[in-house]
Amino acid sequence: MIGFDASQRTINLSTRSTTYQMKIDPTGVLLHTYYGQKLRGGDLSRLICPEDRGFSPNPDEVGLDRTWSLDTQPQEYSSSGVGDFRTPSLEVDLADGSHTADFRYVRHTIEEGKYALEGLPAFYGEGVTAQTLTVELRDRCSSLVVELLYGVLEEYDMITRAVRVRNDGSAPVRLTRVASACLDFPVGDHDFITLGGAYAREREPVRAALTQGIHTAGSVRGSSSHQQNPFLVLCDRDATEDAGRCWGMALVYSGNFLASVEYTQFHETRMTMGIHPFHFSWLLQPGETFTAPEVAMVFSARGLGYMSQMFHRAIRLNLCRGPWKDQRRPILINNWEATLFNFDADKICSIAQAASKVGVEMMVMDDGWFGQRNDDFGGLGDWNVNQEKLPGGLAPLAKRIHDLGMKFGIWVEPEMVNENSDLYRAHPDWTFRVPGRPVTRGRYQLVLDLTRPEVKGYVLDNLRAMLKSADISYVKWDMNRSLTDVWSAGLPAERQGEVYHRFVLAVYEILEALHQEFPDLLIEGCSGGGGRFDCGMLYYTPQIWCSDNTDAADRLRIQYGTSFCYPCCAMGAHVSAVPNGLTHRATPLHTRGVVAAAGTFGYELDLNELTAEELKEVAEQIAAFRTYWDVVMRGDYYRLTSPFRQEDSYCAWMHVTADKSRAVVGLVQTVRHANPVRPLLRLKGLDPDRNYRVNGVVYGGDELMYAGLALPFLDQYQAVQYQIEAV
Ligand code: GLA
Repeated sequence: MIGFDASQRTINLSTRSTTYQMKIDPTGVLLHTYYGQKLRGGDLSRLICPEDRGFSPNPDEVGLDRTWSLDTQPQEYSSSGVGDFRTPSLEVDLADGSHTADFRYVRHTIEEGKYALEGLPAFYGEGVTAQTLTVELRDRCSSLVVELLYGVLEEYDMITRAVRVRNDGSAPVRLTRVASACLDFPVGDHDFITLGGAYAREREPVRAALTQGIHTAGSVRGSSSHQQNPFLVLCDRDATEDAGRCWGMALVYSGNFLASVEYTQFHETRMTMGIHPFHFSWLLQPGETFTAPEVAMVFSARGLGYMSQMFHRAIRLNLCRGPWKDQRRPILINNWEATLFNFDADKICSIAQAASKVGVEMMVMDDGWFGQRNDDFGGLGDWNVNQEKLPGGLAPLAKRIHDLGMKFGIWVEPEMVNENSDLYRAHPDWTFRVPGRPVTRGRYQLVLDLTRPEVKGYVLDNLRAMLKSADISYVKWDMNRSLTDVWSAGLPAERQGEVYHRFVLAVYEILEALHQEFPDLLIEGCSGGGGRFDCGMLYYTPQIWCSDNTDAADRLRIQYGTSFCYPCCAMGAHVSAVPNGLTHRATPLHTRGVVAAAGTFGYELDLNELTAEELKEVAEQIAAFRTYWDVVMRGDYYRLTSPFRQEDSYCAWMHVTADKSRAVVGLVQTVRHANPVRPLLRLKGLDPDRNYRVNGVVYGGDELMYAGLALPFLDQYQAVQYQIEAV
């Protein structure tokens, strides 16, 4: 619900259990007065305590009142150059060389439904109660107009924000920073949580107490990155999974981003999120508009668990699209870890054949099927079938796979090119490179300049041709390096600051075209594992390969961290061979199955190499997954323990259906000590008044949650899985 109280000039946004308030100050500044638990009413600007603060300047319109300064006012979209010395929301080069931006309220509108953003991914309002608030602000002295967009998705306790900047003047202006959201808090005794990490160690939660200064997470790699995720939480110091206030912010964007939390001199907090100002500028000609990507915010007064659950539901049902978003995805087998580049059609079919016998539903052929792609030195960019490996092309292979009763999927990396490729030999100028400077390679490859229409067209035409050449149900869309040498031959010097963002827009445009033309196609995002795991990609690809690290023990950490924002149904997770290629660790097949079943569930090995006993176990894993997939995909997710906590000797999680009638618990023993303490696991999310059957034994929901379930003593890396049903 969005309401305007004309007497107190407040705009109130409310979701099921939260209130967000802004107030139009007499000066026209749009103040931010509250975001938290739901309130019945009130003008929360009374929380602002006017005080004469030294070195906090006062604008002319407040006359000699030394207690009013932009430096101390909480704002919806902070100004720059006029006395607010905290993080600015927008920075600009105006035609006269000045940089000042100082926005004042002009008007607002409230509409039913949720706004969409041209060319950018965004949450949508279909099927839920959604409203949009648009507030127009104008710079006091220039013709720069800012439209603040707010989407209210009541059921998810979610408020989204986005920004449109319009040049209503007659001279061009250059934007050098455009935050998508600015959120001021009157206090600062918070912790903040970011998702850090590295390749093969994606999304490790980092929690720290705020101290005075600016704390940031960001990426300047051209993509959202393995190292930092576009997601940030501010929470009470004592917030836990089940208690305490948490404010989560996720950027619906896949490129360079900056998320920052500033703890001010007066112990207030400012959170901002948006495109990273690094090498960013955008030339706005008269009449043009720039749209900054969306930020999705969830407030929870019930701890981190509820915050995550709301993100999960909203992402699954109102960000992901297409027929697969809420359906069980095909249980797939991928040949990458089994063969790397060394395969041909017969090898793919032999893997598929073994897999079909145990119930796998789709064969995905990974990297190596095109051009002269026999290693990672060459071939990228040449999306024609390697006839030596696959005589006759994709169609005969797809037919052989279909004849086994399976779907067929394929790997691509459309944004890249190897110098050793026909494409590069024909168009060496199609890659990013700064004139006069040597190129920088990543995995022996260069990045195609997709901001150029002819390059984007080439990529799209090739993808279309590939998808039409055979019956292909699934595409794994990879992206295996960070961007460097970002300069486009297609843009003039004054527009080079736009290239990073235009690249992301071009990727979205290609994905959108495929979504429109091949609506049933399931695309799995990937970037050297989980290097581009963000809400932007999830709009086009409802699942993303979580990590190249398929070691079950390491995956516990990766999937745990990922779950702070992203739902399990988005996490590409496979059972692979042991010892694991990256960690050299051997974990039991059962454990690998339990861990992969907390994601999209699939296999990544050659099943021909398994014993008959192991194959029987795989068949059982698949048959079981078919009976409980909906609990994992659609249920609420609970982190029961943290794999990062030294004190815990096991990692446990569970999924519970919305009606609390079914649950699935997964648990892996991560450490085994001699003579261990008694392992008790307290469950969550069940109905205390109902009884549940756990592996044939009936317990009270209250007993399972308040007293716990006695676990067996397990060896290191052994796992248990409980499928629980109300009786
Ligand atoms: C990336 C992906 C892997 C695999 C390889 C192929 O690393 O994350 O899963 O597809 O590329 O080159």
